[in-house]
This record gives sequence, C-alpha cells and structure tokens, in this order.
Amino acid sequence: MNFELTEEHKMIRDAARDFAQTELLPGVIERDENQTFPTEQIKKLGELGFMGMMVSPKYGGAGMDTISYILAMEEISKVDASCSVVMSVNNSLVCWGLETFGNEEQKEKYLKPLASGEMIGAFCLSEPEAGSDATSQQTTAIDKGDHYLLNGTKNWITNGSSASVYLVIAQTDLEKGHKGINAFIIEKDMHGFVVGAKENKLGIRGSDTHSLMFTDVKVPKENRIGEDGFGFKFAMKTLSGGRIGIAAQALGIASGAYELALKYSKERKAFGTEICNHQAIAFKLADMITEITAARHLVMKCAWDKDQGNNYDVSSAMAKLYASKVAMEQTVEAVQIHGGNGFVKEYHVERLMRDAKITQIYEGTSEIQKIVISRSVIKG
Ligand code: CAA
Repeated sequence: MNFELTEEHKMIRDAARDFAQTELLPGVIERDENQTFPTEQIKKLGELGFMGMMVSPKYGGAGMDTISYILAMEEISKVDASCSVVMSVNNSLVCWGLETFGNEEQKEKYLKPLASGEMIGAFCLSEPEAGSDATSQQTTAIDKGDHYLLNGTKNWITNGSSASVYLVIAQTDLEKGHKGINAFIIEKDMHGFVVGAKENKLGIRGSDTHSLMFTDVKVPKENRIGEDGFGFKFAMKTLSGGRIGIAAQALGIASGAYELALKYSKERKAFGTEICNHQAIAFKLADMITEITAARHLVMKCAWDKDQGNNYDVSSAMAKLYASKVAMEQTVEAVQIHGGNGFVKEYHVERLMRDAKITQIYEGTSEIQKIVISRSVIKG
C-alpha cells in the first residue's frame, strides 16, 4: 500500500491549482450571478489536455490515469464547480464511454475533437419521467432499416447548449425492457433536434443545463454505440466512472470551502483573538479536515480501483455518497465560520454551499448510491 502521489501526479495537481487560481477565480462570482458559461476557460482547459485526460494520445487525449483526473477535478472544483462539471461530463461520461465502447470510426470522428476540447459532449439519460428510474425510458428510437427514428424529450442535460455531440439513450424495443435500450451519438445540427429552455439553478449556475427535444430525428445506424440492446449497460457502466468524477468534484467543493474557512478564522478577530483560537471554531476545523480526509481516501481508492482494472461500481457509489455528504455538510460549516460574511457573495463560501447540493443529486442521487451499495452487500 502506498499513499504517496508520484511526481507526475503532483505536477498535474499543481497545474490544475494554478489554472484555477489564475483563470477561474477572476470572474467566478459574476459567471455564477449571470449564469455565464465559462467558454474561454473550457477552451483553455482543452489546450492543457484537461478535457480528455484519460483518453489515449492516439485519439488526441492526454493518456493520464484516473488519479490524475481526480486531482485535477478537485483543484478546479475548489474554485469553480460550474467549470468542473463541464470537464467531468466530457471526460468521464462522453470520452470514456466512446473510447471504451465506440468503434474505430466513431472514435476517429467524435472522440478526437472531444478529447482535445475542440468540441464538448453531453450525456443524455434523464427524462421528465425517468430520473432515478432510468430503465423507464420514454424516448424512442425505432429501427427503420438503415437508420433509427428518434423521438422524445431529455431533461436536466449538462452542457445542453454548449455541446456539439450528444450521447442519447433511447428505447428501441419496449417489450425487451432494459435489454431493448440503445445509446446513440447525435450531432447538434441533426434535423429535428432542438435545444430547449435553460434551467435557472440553485448552484453550478455557470454550467448550461437544458431540456432537449427530438422529433423524427434520423439517426444513421452507424451512430449506435455497441450491439443492439447494449444502451442500458452502456449507461450504467459509464455512470460508474462518472460518479468518480462527481465524487472528486464534491471533494473539491468541500476542501475549497475548508481552505477559505481556515484562512478566514486565522484573520478574523472576536473577543480579543483570532476566531480559530476559540474552541467552537477550532473544533469545527478539526471535524472538517477529518471528514474531508476520509472522503479523499474513498475517492482515491475508487480511482485506484479503476486504474488497477478492479470493479469500481460499488467503490464509486461509496465515494460519491460520502464525498457529496461531506461537501454539503462542510460547506454549511464554512459559511457558519464566516458568520455574516459567509452570507455575502464576495467570500465565495455561499456559492460553494449552493454548488455542493447538486453532487447529492446528479449522476445518481445519494439514495441511488445506497441502492447500488446495499444490493452489492446483500448479494455478497
Ligand atoms: N454495470 C453493468 N450493468 C449494470 C450495472 C453496472 N454498473 N448496473 C446495472 N446493470 C445491469 C443489470 O445487471 C441488469 O442487467 P441484467 O438484467 O442483464 O442482469 C440491468 O442493468 C438492469 O439493472 P437493475 O435490474 O439493477 O435495474 P433497476 O431498474 O433496478 O435500476 C439503478 C438500477 C441502479 C437504480 C439504475 O436505474 C440507476 O443507476 N439509476 C440512476 C440513474 C442515474 O444515475 N442518472 C443520472 C443521470 S446522468 C447525469 O446526471 C449526467 C449529468 O449531466 C451530470
């Protein structure tokens, strides 16, 4: 067992930290306030290789491991979780899904521009009536011989309008249940595809979350990913890795809030001394760093599982469940340590608190993670 990061890991973490401080911190409050998508910042992340971190260099990626990816995700999320969710969906859902299950033509055509950050991708599973209950897909993709005809609506889609490539899950054969579901690659300019309203959200307000409408979209057969009926397994396998990215995002939000609270508590004075000298605050700091360290170990462990080729369905569910709980609880504490200033936007912690909530919801709610974990332990 070795808890040390390699020199390369440290370099990646430091590069992500520098980027977050110099490129993301200026303007993060305004982007949140105005719901502005971080277009320039994402372009620069692509140039640094952060939009296709784990993709093989053969397809234009950086060829890094999952540990590197979560170190970068943590640093970016400390400052701007709106930016890190764009990065996470592109890396662990879209690029990983295409590299692992796409064919050579699909990788050449779609993975290369996605991995370089030239294009952004979206992952489209959720529907108005199919959120947690993901097998209940109402979007249909009817086999018409040389193409599928796609009809339906997707909801709460991250990168909804900024994406150019969409991985869309749809029901081809209702009688086969989840075995009749397929995954398709949809291009933004396909006839009959419309990007709907943008959601006005509590947190991660800089990311663009939209509904998507498909009306008689002709999808070429070659845009189906994997064998006929593989779509649900594609979604589940891809989401297992996606949850590592969101766990790292939650860890970053929590540790970003903790670092701000620690700094503030050493500067702010009350009753004649810095507030960190009051046990009420000191004990909060002790609890925060303990919880965050525990979350980091779970996140690192599941990233390591993935890099070792171990099954990570359960370890990623545990990491996301725990890290998102820590993010929610510890950002509330960070606001409390800041007192009245914590309620004010310029101190950043109120934004981190709002951003934390989504980590308990997307890529499987905390309750879904408990289903995954409990089924596994009961099955043995
Ligand atoms: N890997 C491979 N196969 C898997 C799997 C996995 N991790 N998990 C389930 N499966 C397979 C099962 O083996 C089963 O196949 P067989 O019948 O051949 O054995 C099939 O999938 C159906 O599984 P279940 O019977 O367990 O299905 P279920 O209806 O009970 O649901 C669930 C399982 C875990 C609850 C699943 O529906 C789920 O994960 N729901 C949450 C969906 C989710 O995470 N949505 C997030 C949206 S994406 C997003 O948020 C992205 C974003 O923009 C940020």
